[in-house]
Amino acid sequence: MTAVGPHLLGIAGLNREQLDFLLATSEQFIGINQREVKKVPTLRGKTVVNLFYEASTRTRSSFELAAKRLSADAVNISAQSSSVTKGETLKDTVQTIEAMAPDILVMRHPASGAPHFAAKQLTRTAVVNAGDGLHEHPTQALLDALTIKQALGKIDNLILVMVGDCLRSRVARSNIILHRILGNKVRLVGPPTLILPAFKELGVECHHHMESALEGADVVMSLRMKMEYLAEAFVPNADEYARKYCITERLLSSYAPDSIVLAPGPFIRGTEISSEVIDGPRSRYADQVANGVAVRMAVLFLLMKGMGERVTVEEHA
Ligand code: CP
Repeated sequence: MTAVGPHLLGIAGLNREQLDFLLATSEQFIGINQREVKKVPTLRGKTVVNLFYEASTRTRSSFELAAKRLSADAVNISAQSSSVTKGETLKDTVQTIEAMAPDILVMRHPASGAPHFAAKQLTRTAVVNAGDGLHEHPTQALLDALTIKQALGKIDNLILVMVGDCLRSRVARSNIILHRILGNKVRLVGPPTLILPAFKELGVECHHHMESALEGADVVMSLRMKMEYLAEAFVPNADEYARKYCITERLLSSYAPDSIVLAPGPFIRGTEISSEVIDGPRSRYADQVANGVAVRMAVLFLLMKGMGERVTVEEHA
């Protein structure tokens, strides 16, 4: 069985057993991040390059921390401060990086499919998709699933509601694929311009009213409402969007009283989600961020160690 490798380019293509194994391996790494000395020698001698063509706070820093806590060397390259600004092509950039013999290339790019393209150019380097255009953000969906498992004790038989810009969200896409693999009920809710009837072909429900979407939900996930799209008339204005779709405690206590709330971040308080909710007891945002490091440690580890054997994280006090 090979769950991760030679690359991790998306959730699509993984099966239930592989997802379970990725989550179980991630759970093994959580404890390391809670120790005083947060380091194991598991990937000593390996090199991870983080190549980011888009801004990131959570994903880039957690991949870097994950690599360092596994004792790998980590190098960060931001396109804005690299020779990309001088016109170097993606193919030339990734082949140049490979010539320096890294083991893993973690890549975020605004073009859907860019990590897949990079993987085709490389012969000795594993590629991890850290978010590509409108396509996928697989480690985000994995850390979300790990957070749900921690909070609810299960990842099956759930109703997951995603609120907001499902049209342009790679987080939504990876989560839809993952939760359909798990057999969960997925509801999307937002304005008709962002929740298209065609989404039903993915096996999800489409809603335009929070009340019907939230009814009985176990997990409510806020998606980033990109304010730049206001100018493109996908939504009339931030205030009207907030009136209809901001996740508030009033809505949750009325329609999904037992729900937990996830937010991949960054989030806009008062537009996508109220401060009362994101700072309140339902919110699992801080757990998501913490789990992001553990999931990325698991992904780096499994790409290097393979999935053929049941692995145990090496413990070094
Ligand atoms: N959730 C997420 O991908 O955040 P960043 O853009 O900060 O990495």
